[in-house]
Amino acid sequence: MSGKIRAVLCGCGGICKAWLNPIAGFDDVEIVGLVDIKLENAEKIKQECKLEKAVTGTDLKKVLRKTKPDAVFDCTVPVAHPDVTITALKKGCHVLGEKPMAESMKAGQKMVKTAEDKKKIYSVIQNRRYLDNIVAYRDFIRSGEIGEITTLNGDFYIGAHFGGFRDVMKHVLLVDMAIHTFDQARFISGKDPVSVYCQEFNPKGSWYAHGASAVAIFEMTDGVVFTYRGSWCSEGINTSWECDWRTIGTKGTCTWDGGATIKGQAANADEGFIRAQKDFTVPVEKKIVHGGHAGVIRDFLDCVKNGGVPQTVCQDNIKSLAMVHAAVKSAETGKKVAIKV
Ligand SMILES: NC(=O)c1ccc[n+]([C@@H]2O[C@H](COP(=O)([O-])OP(=O)(O)OC[C@H]3O[C@@H](n4cnc5c(N)ncnc54)[C@H](O)[C@@H]3O)[C@@H](O)[C@H]2O)c1
Repeated sequence: MSGKIRAVLCGCGGICKAWLNPIAGFDDVEIVGLVDIKLENAEKIKQECKLEKAVTGTDLKKVLRKTKPDAVFDCTVPVAHPDVTITALKKGCHVLGEKPMAESMKAGQKMVKTAEDKKKIYSVIQNRRYLDNIVAYRDFIRSGEIGEITTLNGDFYIGAHFGGFRDVMKHVLLVDMAIHTFDQARFISGKDPVSVYCQEFNPKGSWYAHGASAVAIFEMTDGVVFTYRGSWCSEGINTSWECDWRTIGTKGTCTWDGGATIKGQAANADEGFIRAQKDFTVPVEKKIVHGGHAGVIRDFLDCVKNGGVPQTVCQDNIKSLAMVHAAVKSAETGKKVAIKV
C-alpha cells in the first residue's frame, strides 16, 4: 500500500504512550481515532499526545465506521483483546495488539482463525525480542560454542505494585507477565513447547488476589528442559524485567542477567574432576534500530505496507500463549499437561 497507514488506537491507559511516543516519530502512520470505554481517557490522550485530528469515542465499531482505518492498535486489558481484535479484523483492519492475545486458548484460536479468514495480519507485542542483548545472547547460544542446548532456566522476581486490573486478575503472573518469559524462552532456544508441570501460589504477604508466584517445568522439542521461577510480589534483589537466564549446552554454559552482562564458559580440557574452563566474551552489537515497542510496531507497519510476516504474528505467538494456558491448566489440576497449539 502507498500513503500513510491510518490507525485507530483502542485502550488509552497505562501502556498506550509506549506506543504513541514511537509512532509520533514514524512518518508513515497516522492516528485517526482513539477509543476507550472511559471517554475521558481517550480525550486525555488526545490532548497530551497532540492528536488534534483524532476522532474519539467509546464504541470501537462506530469509530471504525467514521474513520475507515487500515489498522487497529489494541491496548486494552487482556479480557477485552478477543472482542476488540475480532471486531477490527472483521472490519477489514490489520491488528497489532498487546500481549497476551487472550485469557483462554479457545479465544486465542478464534482470533487466529479470524485473521486467516479475513486475510489480515494480527500480530502481538512481544517487545522483549527487540533488544540487542537478547539477540546477542541468542546468537551466541545458537553459534555452537556451548554445544547443543539441553537446559534453559529463566528467573523473574519483581515486586511490582500496579494497582488496577492486575490486583484482581486470576493467574496474574502466568497470564499477564509470564507470556514474555515463555516467548523469550522460545526465542532464545528456537524450541517449541511439548509439556508443562506448574505449581502456582499466592505467597503470604502478596498484594494480588490470585497467583502472583509460579514455578514451571517445560519439556521443549529436542528434549530441552526449560524451568521458570517467577514472582510479582517479591521485594528485594529484583531481577530485570527481561529475567535472569542460564542456558546449558553439551559443552558449556551461557548466562545473561537480562541487562548488560552475558557470560559464557566451556570446558577446554578432557581430563580432571572439574575440567578447566575457557571464558567467552559475548559482544553486544548495536544492531536494532528500533527497540522494544518501537521495534514491534515498525515490523508490523513494514509488513502492512510491503507484505511479509511480522516476527510476532499470531500464528507464531499462539505457541507462547499455549505455554501460558497449559501452565494454568497444570496449576489447576496438579498434573503435567501436554501442550498443543
Ligand atoms: N508489552 C509490555 O511490556 C506491557 C506493559 C504493560 C502492559 N501491557 C499490556 O497492555 C495492556 C493494557 O495494560 P495497561 O497497563 O495499559 O492497562 P490500563 O488498565 O492502564 O489501561 C487499559 C485501558 O483500556 C481501556 N479499556 C478496557 N476495556 C476496553 C474496551 N473493551 N474497549 C476500549 N477500551 C477499553 C480502559 O478503560 C483503560 O483505559 C494489557 O494487555 C497489558 O498486559 C504490556
